[in-house]
Amino acid sequence: MSQKQTNPEAAVHPIISGRWSPRAFDENRLIDSTKLAACLEAARWSSSCFGEEPWRFIVADKSNNPDGWQKLLEALVEGNRVWAKNAPVLILACASQAFAHNANPNRWAQYDTGQAMMALSLQAVDEGLISHPMGGFSSEAAQQAFAIPDDFALMSVTALGYQGKAASLPEHYSAIEMGERKRKPLSEIAFTSWNTSWQADEKS
Ligand SMILES: Cc1cc2nc3c(=O)[nH]c(=O)nc-3n(C[C@H](O)[C@H](O)[C@H](O)COP(=O)(O)O)c2cc1C
Repeated sequence: MSQKQTNPEAAVHPIISGRWSPRAFDENRLIDSTKLAACLEAARWSSSCFGEEPWRFIVADKSNNPDGWQKLLEALVEGNRVWAKNAPVLILACASQAFAHNANPNRWAQYDTGQAMMALSLQAVDEGLISHPMGGFSSEAAQQAFAIPDDFALMSVTALGYQGKAASLPEHYSAIEMGERKRKPLSEIAFTSWNTSWQADEKS
């Protein structure tokens, strides 16, 4: 697990600090289906508005579903395909846009699906895997390839696998891969009222 958190302001659990989005995947290491099941299970146990569980996942595992994997890879934009081609598993996350109990629009479905994918990514860290979410894909191509109904929003494709060598990436990407990982300071994102920074109690 690489630790690339560069400006921490508080201690967090190692699976949180250990998660990042590498592009260098080891193309020779496949994912054991027990580990993949654990990642999907983590997503399954996410919270969701009204307990709707609006997420659906297309799991494209190169080792047992090469056609599905190839279709999902082809749906990616070129800039993602160049490195995601080495990931043994690609997962398409979809969100049901309407509540099952009353057919009203579910404006939290995408939030819930994002949470589920974060749970998956954190479980991946615990399994010794890396993950990289992508919004850069053709929704139309993926929808057609997997016959996904129109009432689902196609949110992301996540590459899952084992860490490879940064040097194996095209130069532009290897520089990013080895670069610093930064975040806005807490004072810019956590407020007590709008634009008034929340501050940790000095005694704690
Ligand atoms: C919804 C979403 C879409 C993203 N789309 C892409 C993408 O198309 N290509 C890519 O290389 N990274 C993509 N990323 C990864 C982000 O660039 C990355 O998460 C961000 O730079 C923070 O880095 P970290 O994940 O290492 O903390 C996406 C992330 C999310 C959550």
